[in-house]
Amino acid sequence: MTNLKSKVLKLLKESNDFLSGEKISEEFGVTRAAIWKSINSLREDGYEIESIPRRGYRLLTSPDILTYEEIKDYLETEFIGRKIYYYDSINSTNIEANSLADQEEEGTTIVAEEQLAGRGRLGRDWISPKKKGIYFSIILKPQLHPMEVSKLTLLGAAAVHLALEEIGVDSKIKWPNDIVVNGKKVCGILTEMSSELDMTNYVIMGIGINVNLEEKDIADDLRHKASSLKIELKETVDRRKLFSQVLNKFEELYLPFKKNGEIEKVIEICKDNSAVIGKEISVINGGNIRKGKAIDIDKAGELIVEFDDGKIERIFSGEVSIRGKEEYI
Ligand code: BTN
Repeated sequence: MTNLKSKVLKLLKESNDFLSGEKISEEFGVTRAAIWKSINSLREDGYEIESIPRRGYRLLTSPDILTYEEIKDYLETEFIGRKIYYYDSINSTNIEANSLADQEEEGTTIVAEEQLAGRGRLGRDWISPKKKGIYFSIILKPQLHPMEVSKLTLLGAAAVHLALEEIGVDSKIKWPNDIVVNGKKVCGILTEMSSELDMTNYVIMGIGINVNLEEKDIADDLRHKASSLKIELKETVDRRKLFSQVLNKFEELYLPFKKNGEIEKVIEICKDNSAVIGKEISVINGGNIRKGKAIDIDKAGELIVEFDDGKIERIFSGEVSIRGKEEYI
């Protein structure tokens, strides 16, 4: 958004009454035509702005979009989400974040209203219909050994869980990267990184939340295991509030981790709200499937599984997929 447009929007938001074009143009030292152009461009973005000759302009409603202007009033962070690249449509926010990561500061966030080639884990697609979900990627630059990066996926999952709790939604975490409501997946996390042998250059934390998707937006073959908040709660959820809450909670958990490696709280959240601990599961690693029971998550964030042959092993999140014995969980 241009500087002028964003200043005009701010003024309209702060005012309960009409603002004359003349007054706004004087305030910013620009022509009335420039103001008119900004107003029209805001209308194109979905802002409903009433205009009455000789009285001026008045903001009636703001659109449900995930721009910085629309989320900043809910944002409590220092650096996560303080710089936002916003796209109406994009291939994948993770791809964009990867190409911006070297030049951008930590916390820069790429968000899109729709993704045409949204990516999931293990080479899958992530269906991203327009303005129905929240699709975003945060650029992170922690000083972390590459082996430790998987802890960030748990941190992301814990942040989404807390954000949902904040808006009154009860969710479970399916280790290591899915968020589940009423037994169905409503959010997935794709963590990608660029690293040297023993040093991480950057991490991309890609989060996709199915917020207001309808049944028809979910592929037939996924409906038994995937859902949206709207389907489960039977009401529309404010994407702006939820997006800001995830950024807030993410920073709250990330700061102590970045500074002192503190991950205890994250693990506690993942354990207390686990969708898998105590359940019979299948651990799928490539073509290899092993059955057992998830018994715990250890201090390092690894899942402890007692396999049917009696062996107890720690599972590193890497490339495994966890399935309930019969179902998704
Ligand atoms: C999964 O569960 O398989 C992970 C899904 C991750 C989807 C998000 S949406 C925003 C970001 N951009 C992508 O292309 N993928 C992640």
